[in-house]
Amino acid sequence: MEILVTGGAGYIGSHTCVELLNSGYKVIVVDNFFNSKPESLKRVQEITGKHLKIYEVDTLDEVTLEKVFSENNIEAVIHFAGFKSVGESLQIPILYYHNNITGTLILCEKMKKYNVKKLVFSSSATVYGMPKSVPISESFPLSANNPYGRTKLMIETILQDICAADKQWSVAILRYFNPIGAHESGKIGEDPSGTPNNLMPFITQVAVGKREKLSIFGGDYDTHDGTGVRDYIHVVDIAKGHIRALERIIKTSGIEAYNLGTGIGYSVLEVVKNFQKVTNKKIPYVILKRRRGDIAECYADPIKAKTILKWSAEKNIQDMCRDAWRFQVNNPNGY
Ligand code: WQD
Repeated sequence: MEILVTGGAGYIGSHTCVELLNSGYKVIVVDNFFNSKPESLKRVQEITGKHLKIYEVDTLDEVTLEKVFSENNIEAVIHFAGFKSVGESLQIPILYYHNNITGTLILCEKMKKYNVKKLVFSSSATVYGMPKSVPISESFPLSANNPYGRTKLMIETILQDICAADKQWSVAILRYFNPIGAHESGKIGEDPSGTPNNLMPFITQVAVGKREKLSIFGGDYDTHDGTGVRDYIHVVDIAKGHIRALERIIKTSGIEAYNLGTGIGYSVLEVVKNFQKVTNKKIPYVILKRRRGDIAECYADPIKAKTILKWSAEKNIQDMCRDAWRFQVNNPNGY
């Protein structure tokens, strides 16, 4: 069975390609390598000893994307390709809407034309906006307070409408909480360009000596230690969740959203403490004012994915810290 993975060279995409290949699927990757490197796909093939069919193509490039569909016998699509920085989306909203929304519409048009109606979509807990309470379940109200989050929300709505119009479609929307960590080989991992926005890559860059200290955004939240609480989940657990979602949509039709989280919230200071414990590396930090758009607490109720997808996160926070550190040590300057 041939699976098309858009954005397959990215952080979550590359880890999902490893699990797909290990599960016996044939994998075709399309990626424009705008926010990723071909090296990650080379390493996916090293890790698995299996072959990827790779096309350097942008989902906005209708002609070349058509070629991918006409040359292959695609059964289902896992769609990661998209810009994903909250901060950047506030600066360049038009680019975010064009890239993420138009790119998805072109992909769905090609899928329809070639009768490929099975899709796993990479969404985000950001669609829950400022949740009224935690843990967060899929039935919670959806909203977004930045262009990046709005593209995820709009794409979820587009997919709902596609499925309402054609009952043959089968879609799984996966709402990731905070993916961190790396494959145990240390060969693939999170490789942000420039200054990391996210917590874990910043911590590992401090630990490896690339950054002087961690700035903790906010020490006065209404949480047990005043710092922000998030549901950190190992990227390999996220990847395995995609395999379960794929197995589900192959057997069913309709559209469902699932939280991919552990159901456990850790504060920034707790992540730092666990990282220091596991790596024996001191992480100097300073507590600054809150970051615009951040919320105090965000963690999942993962019961729906457990019940329907038969999936639960297996790795703990120390596994995440250990594996993130190994990738950083092996790749001090990324890929
Ligand atoms: C986690 C915690 C920060 C960096 C974002 C996106 C979300 C998803 C995951 C794409 C917060 C604190 C962080 C730092 C810090 N991305 N922090 N110093 O903001 O929960 O989620 O990434 O889908 O859509 O919103 O993740 O890692 O940026 O922050 O103190 O240098 O760490 O305040 O409490 P976030 P994050």
